[in-house]
Amino acid sequence: MQFFIDTANLDHIREATELGILDGVTTNPSLMAKEGITGDNAVLKHYRDICEIVGPGRDVSAEVISTEFKAMVTEGKKLAELHENIVVKVPMIKDGVKAIAHFSELGIRTNCTLVFSAGQAILAAKAGATYVSPFIGRIDDISWDGMTLIKDIFEIYSTTGYETAILAASIRNPLHIVQAAKAGADVVTCPLSAILGLLQHPLTDIGLEKFLADYKKAGG
Ligand code: G3P
Repeated sequence: MQFFIDTANLDHIREATELGILDGVTTNPSLMAKEGITGDNAVLKHYRDICEIVGPGRDVSAEVISTEFKAMVTEGKKLAELHENIVVKVPMIKDGVKAIAHFSELGIRTNCTLVFSAGQAILAAKAGATYVSPFIGRIDDISWDGMTLIKDIFEIYSTTGYETAILAASIRNPLHIVQAAKAGADVVTCPLSAILGLLQHPLTDIGLEKFLADYKKAGG
């Protein structure tokens, strides 16, 4: 399973890259706004900066703002031309599906976002999306079960042979990462805190403390 970081914060992206486990980055307009990145030029520059930090071969999702087919295509092409790492992120709406199918014909990679049902995931795959992004945390937020959706999409894609990668998004904590891996997600995209949370175990800390103490006691 691949690890993407879900942020537009350059320090977090650098830290995850230096950890040596990062396969890509996802962003969205809310995450860009959170970092104070506003205006078309600043946004495009920020995408380029992210691509340079993560280096070659690591996908970086850049989301279109347009909601109408022609404008989405123009915007998506501009984003795709920015850097070879860019994957065009397109919302799961009617024009979005049409745009994904068009980008697929042009060989432009896409990430279909705001997916909350298995039916939407089927449409995204049928249109030729490179990634489909079911939003786990937001489903859990309304007391449904986000992970069941990952399992359903995995079953459907395995049965049908759809090649779209399941990118579990809206991941909020380390347990979500573990559950997504068990459910068959190809990728998880998560905040740095969730990735670093995977490190934590009290027995690791106690064990290490004892190893170092014993080493000192033995005269090391
Ligand atoms: O990038 C989309 C998704 O990961 C958003 O997460 O936490 O805002 O639901 P969240």
